[in-house]
Amino acid sequence: MSTISFAGRVAIITGAGGGLGRDYALDLARRGAAVVVNDLGTNSDGTGGPSRMADSVVGEIRAAGLSAVASYDSVATAEGGEAIVATAMKAFGRVDVLINNAGILRNAPFDELEDSTIDTMLSVHLKGAFNVTRPAYRLMKRQRYGRILFASSAAGMFGNTEQAAYGAAKAGLVGLMNVLSLEGRAHGVLCNALLPTAESRMGAQMSASQMKEFGEVFAMAGPYLGNSGTPPFVTPLVVYLVSEACSSTHGIYSASLGRYARVFVAASNGWIGPRDRAPTAEDVEAHFTTICDQKNVTVPGSLRDEFTDIIKLLHKS
Ligand SMILES: NC(=O)c1ccc[n+]([C@@H]2O[C@H](COP(=O)([O-])OP(=O)(O)OC[C@H]3O[C@@H](n4cnc5c(N)ncnc54)[C@H](O)[C@@H]3O)[C@@H](O)[C@H]2O)c1
Repeated sequence: MSTISFAGRVAIITGAGGGLGRDYALDLARRGAAVVVNDLGTNSDGTGGPSRMADSVVGEIRAAGLSAVASYDSVATAEGGEAIVATAMKAFGRVDVLINNAGILRNAPFDELEDSTIDTMLSVHLKGAFNVTRPAYRLMKRQRYGRILFASSAAGMFGNTEQAAYGAAKAGLVGLMNVLSLEGRAHGVLCNALLPTAESRMGAQMSASQMKEFGEVFAMAGPYLGNSGTPPFVTPLVVYLVSEACSSTHGIYSASLGRYARVFVAASNGWIGPRDRAPTAEDVEAHFTTICDQKNVTVPGSLRDEFTDIIKLLHKS
């Protein structure tokens, strides 16, 4: 097993002034990457700031004799995204890796969600990833090499109470990754999504009812958790996914409590309805168990693959 090296590579990590992003930045720098440490420097709910959080991470990296530059632009605007990528180009002349990690959290029961929260969550997480990825992807496509990772969340892929805006934005990132991975593959640009779990200041945003729900789950873990809920337990998967050693694209990966797993979006084989007439709602009711049966599933790699899977089932029916 050879050492995974980033010598000669340039990595942009958004929201890397603390939490998970800081840990990714430190490991990538240790492995030879020149790192753009981007962080607007807000509170975890997006209020306050801007502050120069990125400076301390850049300081840590440089103190070790390694290469990094700070960026204080917000991912939430197109100009901010352009400026982050321009910082990398000015300092290091290329962009090989982009980790869309910047994020904020505001929890609220659905009926109490305010417009401003929905707009802010979508603009930082979802629009933010578009803003940075578009200029970075153009460069990567031209140089025929790139690795892009989107920090999604189990809250979006599986669901979590009181996180409708956050979950919708995070699930939206998977949609972005699904499409960009298909477009980027031919140009050597590979894209994946990450569902991380780690203690960070974001966790402090949980409401009392969420804390109770999670407290009950973690009580079952007893001594088995160890330190597995900390950023260094997420970083190894991230570093592998954005490395030259990794050929995966179009994947969703979970790094949670020391368990590393691939997450799939699957379709059941379902029920093949009549060909000569459209079925009725009663037909659907009668076959609902078959429609929902999870025993036989496929994992379509694209919209085209889903059509192909259905047509194969038609042949068999
Ligand atoms: N910690 C977890 O368990 C967990 C779980 C699922 C997903 N995530 C995601 O992982 C990412 C990192 O989370 P974390 O726990 O390290 O949180 P964190 O709050 O420590 O880090 C997020 C960073 O993003 C920065 N930021 C916020 N808005 C920004 C903007 N507009 N432009 C640039 N930077 C901005 C913040 O200043 C902060 O330093 C987030 O996208 C989060 O949603 C975290």
